[in-house]
Amino acid sequence: MDRFSILVGDITTSDAEAIANAANCTLLGGSGVDGAIHRAAGPGLLAECRTLGGCETGQAKLTKGYDLPAKYVLHTPGPIWRGGNAGEAALLASCYRSCLTLAEEHGVGTVDFPSISTGVYGYPMAQAAVVALKAIMDFLWDHELPRRVRMVCHTESAAEIYRQAYNMWYAGDKTQRL
Ligand code: APR
Repeated sequence: MDRFSILVGDITTSDAEAIANAANCTLLGGSGVDGAIHRAAGPGLLAECRTLGGCETGQAKLTKGYDLPAKYVLHTPGPIWRGGNAGEAALLASCYRSCLTLAEEHGVGTVDFPSISTGVYGYPMAQAAVVALKAIMDFLWDHELPRRVRMVCHTESAAEIYRQAYNMWYAGDKTQRL
């Protein structure tokens, strides 16, 4: 599907209309990509986040992008990995779906994602990649917007994991539900 791609980069420099943030439920910043996004966006982002009253795991809230190149930030707390039998996959899929639904509601055309929950929250990347790709592809199949979604991996090794997941699940049989 040419509406989706995988790349290596720093999501804070993304030129997408909206970038997703792997947040925590307080939405008040943190380390990892959350910390990087807040640093790049400047104090206005935290000030707006303070007005949001937090966010549940698997849900998403939208703010402006402030000093980021991106116009919007889609804040979504991913699940903390607890071994895989605590509903983590469903919650992770919900993160991607919630962000894409918000993007569509706001007429956003391009969305970049980091690899949610695969850092501090410990979700094994290979398993997270399959969940993320299915959630993204299923949404794109049923919706016109966003018209482009990218997975922005911080390292080449992470991108390779996503590419392998993509090739395993989607590039083989074009007739498959992408
Ligand atoms: N651009 C793109 N990806 C990044 C960047 C960046 N600048 N920085 C980190 N990443 C990647 C990590 O390599 C990882 O694969 O983002 C992925 C998610 O890792 P975390 O940022 O640790 O997020 P997560 O695992 O979802 O944990 C969320 O960490 O930062 C805190 O406040 C956050 O409590 C929350 C928790």
